[in-house]
This record gives sequence, C-alpha cells and structure tokens, in this order.
Amino acid sequence: MPFKKEIRLEDIPGIGDKTLEKLKSIGYADPMVIAVSSPTELANIAEIGEATAAKIINAIREKLDIGYETADKILERRTTVSKITTGSKNLDNLLGGGIETQAITEAYGQYGSGKTQLAFQLSVTVQLPKDKGGLDGACLFIDTENTFRPERIVQIARSLKLEPEKVLRNIYIARAFNTEHQILLVEKAPDMIEEKKIKLIVVDSLTSHFRADFIGRGELASRQQKLNRHLHQLQRLADAFNLAVYITNQVMSDPSMLFGDPTRPVGGNILGHMATYRLYLRRGKEGTRICKIIDAPDLVEGEAVFRITENGISDN
Ligand code: GTP
Ligand code: MG
Repeated sequence: MPFKKEIRLEDIPGIGDKTLEKLKSIGYADPMVIAVSSPTELANIAEIGEATAAKIINAIREKLDIGYETADKILERRTTVSKITTGSKNLDNLLGGGIETQAITEAYGQYGSGKTQLAFQLSVTVQLPKDKGGLDGACLFIDTENTFRPERIVQIARSLKLEPEKVLRNIYIARAFNTEHQILLVEKAPDMIEEKKIKLIVVDSLTSHFRADFIGRGELASRQQKLNRHLHQLQRLADAFNLAVYITNQVMSDPSMLFGDPTRPVGGNILGHMATYRLYLRRGKEGTRICKIIDAPDLVEGEAVFRITENGISDN
C-alpha cells in the first residue's frame, strides 16, 4: 500500500500539537502503522478519545493510495501460487489445497492445540515433490520457544517414506533469543533462501518474544510498530521468492468478552491485517483437533477436524 504522496501527520484533522508531540515522543509517528491500528489501540497509545482516534485513522486511510494494478497482472502472479499439503485431507480441503505461497498463514490457539505440530508437518511436506503436495524445497525454521524436536521430524519423514537424514538436512533451524534477534534472522534470510531453495519459513512463535520484551503499557506503541515491520518483511519474502510463511501465535483471554470463546490472538489488529490466512486451532472430542478459518480472502469460512498422531498430522 504505497502512499500517493508523503503524508504528514500535521495535516491530518484531529491531530493537534499535543497529540502530535505525544505520538512522536513515543515513536508512533509512522502513518502506515497508524492506518492499520484500531481506534482502541491508538486511543490507548496516544491517550486520546476513541472517537478522535477513529477520525485520525480514517483520515489517514483516505489519503492512502491503494496503488492500482490491472487485474491481469494480479492473475498472472496468482498462477504461480503453490500449496503445501498439511497431511490431512480435511484440512487441505478447508484450505483449498494446503498452505499457500506468497502469503502469511497464522495459526493461533491455546497450548497443545497443534500449532507447533503443524509447523513440523509442513517443514517435512514442503520437501515432497510437487505431485505429492510439496514444493520440492527446504524449510527455514525460526524457533523462539526452544520447542523444535528433530525426533518428531524423523517420525513424520518415515511415515511419508522419506529419508529422515535428508529431511533433517533440509530444515535450517535458527533459535531466536529475543525480538531483535528474531527480526535480524528474517532480515538476513534472503542470503540463504535462494541458495538453499527455501520454500517455507516458519516462525514459531511469532509473538512470544514481543510479549516478553515489551511489557509495559508505554511500550505497546513500539511493540506494534516493530511487529508491523517484521510482518511486512516476511510478506516481502513470501512475494519475492514465491514461498510460504507459517507463523504461530498464542491467545490471551479477553475479560471484556462475556459470551462465546473469551480468547483472542496476541498482537491485535496489526497481525489481523498482515496475515492472509488466520486459522484458529482448538482441541476437539476424543483427541481430535479442530481448525477454523477466521479470516481468508478467498476461502469459505468453515471448520475441519484432524488428528495429531505418531506419524504427524492426519485425518485419523
Ligand atoms: P504451545 O506452543 O504450548 O502454545 O502449543 P502448540 O499449539 O504448539 O502445541 P503442539 O503443536 O506442540 O501440540 C502438542 C500436542 O500434540 C500434545 O499435547 C499431543 O497431544 C500432541 N502430540 C505431540 N507429539 C505427539 C505424538 O508423537 N503422538 C501423538 N499422538 N500426539 C502427539
Ligand atoms: Mg508450540
């Protein structure tokens, strides 16, 4: 979403001297970041009323140049989109074939819901040949929680009749120690993507360091800003190298929710805007897992039931 011309916050109705100063002092002065914030987020950060926040966001959005492109160009690019199988037919059907390249797929859900297991599965299936649902490529796996388990990779590889040693050698693990390190790992990724034929980037989990490193309310602004930049970088890699990005995310409980499921993904609106596909994973009956599509531009909303077995993700 490029800007038609440089947008100056000074010119936005609703941003007075005081608000401008506040936004600048906390480093929340990038119009793009404000444009994708929610009124509640901005109101909290800038300590202004929600109505004013909404007015400011709308004014900036109106100045955005969506950047016209003829539809045939987009169709042309879309024809190169490929999918990686999840190992479950139910889940693949729900996703229209699997996890897409040129897109960010986010899985969020409670502990044990299967986010990491799906990451393991994809890091193996991406290596399958194209006629078996893979991309004949390698995986870059950014592990922020130290939960990568090569033993699981071996089990999944065996069940797919792949050579475990070869599969392990095609998964490049990077342990990210904090937010800055995580960002740096993604910034440095282009160097190796082509050389190693990376077709899948996993960030498991995307948000845990951000949550731990930016704790106070005063740090929310810089956290959201950094998260936004990080996601833009991932999307650029997905587009530039026609690869898939799979990220996981925790949930936190929302005390203001009186009805329904009181959990929501960490990261707020910015993640919602940046992830192309949002999947909500939860435990179902008798050890099953349920995947619900929350946000997808071209998929029917629905659910799929799958299982986590010794052999990885499957239908039963
Ligand atoms: P957090 O990272 O804690 O938020 O959870 P997560 O969503 O990443 O959970 P994960 O994907 O690690 O799922 C863990 C669950 O997968 C376990 O509770 C088991 O139910 C299941 N699981 C893991 N390994 C195996 C296995 O070898 N066999 C079977 N049957 N299930 C397994
Ligand atoms: Mg996990």
